[in-house]
Amino acid sequence: MKRVLLIVGGGIAAYKACELIRLLRKRGHAVRCVLTEGGSHFVTPMTLAALSEDKVYTSLWDLKDEAEMGHIQLSREADLVVVAPATADLLARMAAGVADDLATTLLLATDKPVLAAPAMNVRMWSHAATQRNVATLRGDGVTVLEPDEGAMACGEYGAGRLPEPDAVAAAIDRALAPVERRLSGKHVLVTAGPTHEPIDPVRYLANRSSGRQGFAIAGALADIGARVTLVSGPVTLPTPSGVTRVDVETAKQMAEAVERALPADAAVMVAAVADWRVDAAPQKVKKGSAPPALVLTENPDILAGLARHPSRPRLVVGFAAETEQVLEYAAAKRVRKGVDWIVANDVSGDVMGGDANTVHLVTANGIESWERLPKSTVAARLAERIADALEEPS
Ligand SMILES: Cc1cc2nc3c(=O)[nH]c(=O)nc-3n(C[C@H](O)[C@H](O)[C@H](O)COP(=O)(O)O)c2cc1C
Repeated sequence: MKRVLLIVGGGIAAYKACELIRLLRKRGHAVRCVLTEGGSHFVTPMTLAALSEDKVYTSLWDLKDEAEMGHIQLSREADLVVVAPATADLLARMAAGVADDLATTLLLATDKPVLAAPAMNVRMWSHAATQRNVATLRGDGVTVLEPDEGAMACGEYGAGRLPEPDAVAAAIDRALAPVERRLSGKHVLVTAGPTHEPIDPVRYLANRSSGRQGFAIAGALADIGARVTLVSGPVTLPTPSGVTRVDVETAKQMAEAVERALPADAAVMVAAVADWRVDAAPQKVKKGSAPPALVLTENPDILAGLARHPSRPRLVVGFAAETEQVLEYAAAKRVRKGVDWIVANDVSGDVMGGDANTVHLVTANGIESWERLPKSTVAARLAERIADALEEPS
């Protein structure tokens, strides 16, 4: 039996928390509820108490509650803290570290994993402030579910609906499942993002890599126990929890950071490293009559260098972003660079910067094509495959 502390916020979807309690109880979990002041305008403590068969907590300032069970204790007794529905207001207060009521005080005081299921009007959800708060919370290690899309109680249509209670219950089960820390004791090096190659002090050559797939892989490896060093080019992404991040700008700096991060048991080189750098001008190039010619020099080949390095990681995985003949180019790249696996993807569509990826895993045993998956699922699957490979006798 697992113990879920369920915080019910003040949204129209609070009624779905009632069904969620029923589903969690059916799965054998104990549920204890905290109802915010806002939440109490939508469901009553009596309903939650009857469904959870437990006391419902509503106030930070209840002398009797505080004497029976201090609020810190309440937040730590649970195996998981769930916020459903998570209002825009709760997400904002959580992201800012505000503790001005029982719910937010518990959330700040807890040492347990937190899962939030947002529910709000589509404009509230897509507002820059909410998106910023969600990004902050995810960076802090909170699991924030994506809301569903559909018709809303307010008459508008779009993203912001609370996922159906069985989907929230399934996410809760995933969060409660004991994670097998298969890579514990292993060091994995990951590179991600683009590199920027200066033309002069204000201009640079770059590419469209967002770093999202590499960051997801670093996070997935850390989730199953690896010590992860993530060497990242210039991106605007939060560092996944449990990952050590080294920020670099150019391919040369990335090569040096990779060298410094060795030894490693495995390396996953996801970064889109610029093939060429420019003989950078020391001062800003002025606009003249004729456009200047850029003289390009080849950058160090970080992937091939690592594959022949005296401290070569046992497993070296490269990425191949191609726009044509994806499989042929990837298979040839695997052999040419001397790496173990190539993860090939077709970047002719909206892959760069998008949420999903269709990849092919090219190994010495052949090619495995994975269906189109969220980048987080690609990452989790690849992390498990890396754990399989490192568990094989060498
Ligand atoms: C009828 C009504 C429906 C509301 N629905 C939502 C909602 O679905 N999501 C949301 O974030 N806020 C919603 N709000 C606004 C919140 O109730 C308000 O921000 C409140 O301060 C939230 O309190 P809490 O975050 O402490 O629970 C609604 C307000 C009203 C009056």
